[in-house]
Amino acid sequence: MLIQIKNLTKTYQRHDGAINAVDNLSLDIPKGSFVTITGASGSGKTTLLLMLGGLLRPTSGKMVYNGNEINLHKEEELANFRSNHVGFVMQSFALIPYLTAVENIMIALNVKNSDKAKNRKGALELLEWVGLDDRTTHYPKELSAGQQQRVAIARALANNPDLLLADEPTGNLDPGLSEEILGVLKEINQNHNTTIVMVTHSPMAAEYGNTKIQMKNGKLHTHVSNVIAEQIN
Ligand SMILES: Nc1ncnc2c1ncn2[C@@H]1O[C@H](COP(=O)(O)OP(=O)(O)O)[C@@H](O)[C@H]1O
Ligand SMILES: [Mg+2]
Repeated sequence: MLIQIKNLTKTYQRHDGAINAVDNLSLDIPKGSFVTITGASGSGKTTLLLMLGGLLRPTSGKMVYNGNEINLHKEEELANFRSNHVGFVMQSFALIPYLTAVENIMIALNVKNSDKAKNRKGALELLEWVGLDDRTTHYPKELSAGQQQRVAIARALANNPDLLLADEPTGNLDPGLSEEILGVLKEINQNHNTTIVMVTHSPMAAEYGNTKIQMKNGKLHTHVSNVIAEQIN
């Protein structure tokens, strides 16, 4: 298993009382799987995703990564987990407007390595993966929404993550562009064996998953997996 979460709970204190956004949830995510998460607004999808990526500390419960328990109380350990293993793609592409496509990816690579020529080469390679090698020196505003999301996906892959987390990555795209982006994610999952967990409102998008989860009130409502353990080990 890539990630195992056990009895994970996130409690928020609100003016109307405490709410368990994620409520005693346990889940195994096999290596190489493509997990899709659906559920009504407020059911806890984003909260779960942020905890999976080490961006949000659970109130209780535990997380095991590749067989090793992550110490959720040590900020440094969470930070290492994030930077070594996790990539994020959001609904709003969150690109830096005054940097070109290739530069948006280079700054993610520069964090780990200061060799600019090497990083440019790496960034161009990532743009090729997402089918955007002909738009490398364009600024975000010169790109279509679908192209901007491709840049954001390439940036999320910059640290060569084992786990790619996506929160409504097609939420701002029309159906045609959504299918293109979903195709890019599927390719990354299949060709690079990157495990993907994607939150989506769209039943069509959810079909891209080989493990489909539906959340309700912070809990797993349904969980259907077509992943055969032997195939993905
Ligand atoms: N920072 C926060 N403070 C208080 N309540 C929050 C916070 N973030 C989320 N919630 C609440 O937790 C529940 C789950 O939210 P969320 O994970 O964003 O759901 P989803 O992504 O499925 O729409 C909701 O009731 C939401 O209002
Ligand atoms: Mg959400």
